[in-house]
Amino acid sequence: MKLENNIIGIIGNPIQHSISPLIHNFWMKKYNIKGCYYPFLVKEENLKNLIIGIRSLNIRGLNVTVPFKEKVIPFLDELDDGAKNLGAINTIVNENGSLKGYNTDKKGFIAPLKNRNNYWDKNKPVLLIGAGGAALSIISALENEGVKEIRVMNRTEKNIDKLVKKYKLIKKTKWLDLKNLSDVGLIINSTSLGMKGFENIDINLKKANNNALVYDIIYNPKTTKLLKEAKKNKLKNINGLEMLIEQAKESFYKWFSIYPDNFKSLSNLISKKLK
Ligand code: ATR
Repeated sequence: MKLENNIIGIIGNPIQHSISPLIHNFWMKKYNIKGCYYPFLVKEENLKNLIIGIRSLNIRGLNVTVPFKEKVIPFLDELDDGAKNLGAINTIVNENGSLKGYNTDKKGFIAPLKNRNNYWDKNKPVLLIGAGGAALSIISALENEGVKEIRVMNRTEKNIDKLVKKYKLIKKTKWLDLKNLSDVGLIINSTSLGMKGFENIDINLKKANNNALVYDIIYNPKTTKLLKEAKKNKLKNINGLEMLIEQAKESFYKWFSIYPDNFKSLSNLISKKLK
């Protein structure tokens, strides 16, 4: 008998807010893949043992979320070229015991912007809040789109330095300093702030350009304080749900060689789950 082990999942901390299990379990059912996708709450000191566990239990693959997108890399056997360039991964594939890291966040992040032609002005500077693993994918995606300047602000200012070293288009900006907001075309939150269980970013968008687009990569809750502030100031805005689904499609493809369709019933399920 051929053993099929289609156990997949996500590692992160916190993880209870994640709707990735809902999405992937939905697709597995639709495409008749036997197995399940489980949310694993992991402590950083257990990362090494966890990797041994993936091999010994023959887990097919994992998604990786906050705060492990960079930290998990030293434990993997191989990185795909894109992930190597970025230095952050969100997907692990187990190929007969060899663990390979991929980054599907970059494609996931840019897809909603590409799907909305002329929705934002690439010639204007971008304001990026956050300098973690997600920020790496975002910067690289925006650079590919031809953006010339990204102003980065981060609670821990020194964490911006590695980005400055790597990307010429980064300008270090003081945490929550909004003096230079009027010429910004795209404002992005890539931090955990606003996520269920976290505090919110206290940011005032009164001085934002009328045409600015506000993109919060948080999807749970659907509307963060930042997005409420965008709406209050009549600014275009997107939450992180589309990015989540797009990166999930890419990960699913890496594990099962199936690229999921857009299912209306999945959107309905997600809407019900998220407040
Ligand atoms: P990920 O890999 O998912 O991006 P990460 O690398 O841990 O996760 O990055 C999380 C981001 O959220 C960082 O920019 C982090 O800021 P620090 O570099 O100062 O840690 C930011 N972040 C997390 N919690 C925060 C908080 N309470 N206040 C401000 N920023 C926070």
